[in-house]
Order: sequence, then structure tokens, then C-alpha cells
Amino acid sequence: MKPPSIGVSIGSVLGKSLGSFLRSDKVKSMTRDSLLKMDPEIAHQTTIAALRMGVTPVQTSVDSEKLKTNICGLELRNPIGMAAGFDKNAQVSAALGQIGFGFCEVGTITPYSQEGNEKPRLFRLTQSQAIINRMGFNNEGHEAAYQRLKKQAKNHSNSNIVGVNIGANKDSEDFVADYVKGVKRFADVADYLTINISSPNTKGLRDLQSYEALKRLLNEVLAERTRAKIFVPVFLKVAPDLDEKELDEIAKLVLQSDLDGLIISNTTISRNMIEAEENSSEMGGLSGKPLFNLSTMRLAQMRQRIGSEMPIIGVGGIHSAKSAIAKMNAGANAIQLYSALVYQGMELLDEIKLGLEKEVTRTKVDNVSGLVGTSVDEWASGKGGI
Ligand SMILES: Cc1cc2nc3c(=O)[nH]c(=O)nc-3n(C[C@H](O)[C@H](O)[C@H](O)COP(=O)(O)O)c2cc1C
Repeated sequence: MKPPSIGVSIGSVLGKSLGSFLRSDKVKSMTRDSLLKMDPEIAHQTTIAALRMGVTPVQTSVDSEKLKTNICGLELRNPIGMAAGFDKNAQVSAALGQIGFGFCEVGTITPYSQEGNEKPRLFRLTQSQAIINRMGFNNEGHEAAYQRLKKQAKNHSNSNIVGVNIGANKDSEDFVADYVKGVKRFADVADYLTINISSPNTKGLRDLQSYEALKRLLNEVLAERTRAKIFVPVFLKVAPDLDEKELDEIAKLVLQSDLDGLIISNTTISRNMIEAEENSSEMGGLSGKPLFNLSTMRLAQMRQRIGSEMPIIGVGGIHSAKSAIAKMNAGANAIQLYSALVYQGMELLDEIKLGLEKEVTRTKVDNVSGLVGTSVDEWASGKGGI
């Protein structure tokens, strides 16, 4: 689908006045309330369409120096990224940069386009501010996303950091080969790549987290990265449903390899943390507020195992400045979020930035990197919690 050409003119013709209108609190809450009344997938498509047309608020201030950080050599103007799954087809990463995200992860993208699971497949759990999804990697495939990213890289001499999250087609005969294809396809347009082996909605995918399978996957993917003409950092995204033995095995393999970082975590198949409410028994991956404690504990447990050097992007249930700070204290060098934006809107981004900035001042550290890993043991032992 091509974006309506009116999108470009709305932004340029109405310029600042439209921007301030869109930034008014009334418009923001009206927009959020209307989206929450729609079918969740239609609401998502509407949001993507609005971003493509440029009918969205744009950040007018410059991020504080205190928010700057560096991860695998990537200079982030702030440590807050849009998590994978929002921009599955690499259509709106530039717009997300304009809104104020420090980075954006597009995908998951599989070699060939696929429809994903039958609808409905996306469910809100409003009381718990959670989401259950069983989308099943609906996406337009490598080629479509690659062309968009290539065009963006040409058109924008901007500092947007864009990660590409790669996956395997549902009917693929060799999942590992699909990841290798992903590295080959996106190495020259991605700022980093994410090997996603943790989505619960593709049968057999999470088995790649087991020792022998992961060993082969890392070997082949990283060998392909070496063959690529440009160096691109590679991250591995894991599930929060791993036990301590599985964490040990993954940590061992990761430390033996040239992998650059981890993303912890994807959605959970567990339902322990939610009360019965509408949609709570739907199949799929649970994300949002109830995922926070579990994913943050796993992050800290992995941090204990891999030491302080390797970057970890912390994701799962961030819904406030306090939870963003806690994620970094538990060992995350940068963070991502998705579900909470559905309930709180893009304003949450500003709230988190302000909270991080204040915490940097309060704790008298130089910048956000000083907040990383200050309470790993507490979180790893299960004593953390917000
Ligand atoms: C609707 C939806 C689709 C998602 N799709 C993907 C995906 O394609 N690939 C992926 O790695 N993670 C995907 N995720 C997981 C998120 O990237 C993130 O890891 C998870 O939602 C936890 O963060 P949150 O609680 O802030 O949403 C998806 C999440 C949601 C809610």
C-alpha cells in the first residue's frame, strides 16, 4: 500500500500549526481514546497509516545530553527504542525517530511474505494494561522491507538508528537458513540485526534456544556476518520463559561466540501474572505491564551470567519512568517498549525521558549509562519488583 501523497503536503503546508495542534493534550487523549475503541489490529493499521502520512506530533526539543548513550558503537540520542512488532514492514522508522525514539527495531521480517495467523489474533487486556498476540510473523518479506530501508537510508541523512529483526518463515524447511538469508539481505541497511528465536507464535521457533540448535544458528549467522562487506552488530532476542539451566547454556554459547548483544525479552506464554479478565485465556504471547517483573528478573539473571561488558537491550512491560529506570538498574544498557504505548500513547516517551534525566541528576551520575546494573543481584534473586 502506497502512502497517500497528501501526507507529505499536510506536514509541509500546515507545518508548525498542525504540529502544535497535534501536540495539544486534548487531541492526544481524543486520539488515544478513539484508537482504544477500535478493533486492535485496525487501530494498529490506523496508527501506522498516520505515521506514514506525517500526521503525528514531532519532537520539537533536543534530547538532553544526559540521555545520550552508546551501544555497540551506535550513538543513541536517548536509550528508548520502539520494540519489534510495531513496524513489521519497515514503513515508519523515520517517523518514529521524529517523534523522539532513540532507535527503532523493525520486523520481524521473514524471507518471503506471509499472512500470519487467522484473525482475530491481537487482544487487549485493558484492566492489566497487557496485550496477547498471536500474529505469527505477518509481514511482506525481505525484499519489500529492504527496498524501503535502502530508500530511507538514501533520503535521510538523519541520525535514526534502525535495527532489523529477522525471523524464519512458518513453512521453511530450514529455519537457520532463513536467518542467514536475513543477515545477507539486511547487513548493508541495518544499524544492527536481531535474531529473533523467541516468538511463541511460529511452531518450533523457540526450540532454536536449545543448546545444540543455538550453537549451529550462532555459528552460521555470525559466519554470514563475517562474509558481509559491512560490519553490523548482531543481537539475539530471547524469551522470558527460560529456566536457569537454559539461561546458563545460552550465556555459555553467547560468551563463546562473536555475538554483540542480547535483547531480553520477548512476550511470555505464562499467564501466572494475570487475573482472569476478558481475553486472558487467548493463546499467544503476553506483553505489557504484567510482563515487567518476569522479564526484568530474567534480564538480571542473564546479566549475572554474562558480566557487565556485553550490551543488553531490556524490553518487557515498561510502562512508566520508574519501570524504565528499574530495567536499566537491572542491567539494561538501552530499553524498548511497545504495549504500554497502546494504553498511554506516545506521551509516555516524554515521561520516561524526563524520569531518566531526573534520575541521572538525583544519583549524580554523568549520564544514563550510570544507571545500568546498579541492582542486578536484587532483581536476579527475585527480590526486585515494582
Ligand atoms: C502485537 C505485537 C507484535 C509483536 N511482534 C513481534 C515481532 O514480530 N518480533 C519480535 O521480536 N517481537 C515482537 N513483539 C514483542 C515485542 O517486541 C516485545 O518484546 C514485547 O511486547 C514486550 O515488550 P512490551 O511489554 O513493552 O510490549 C510483539 C509484541 C506485540 C504486542
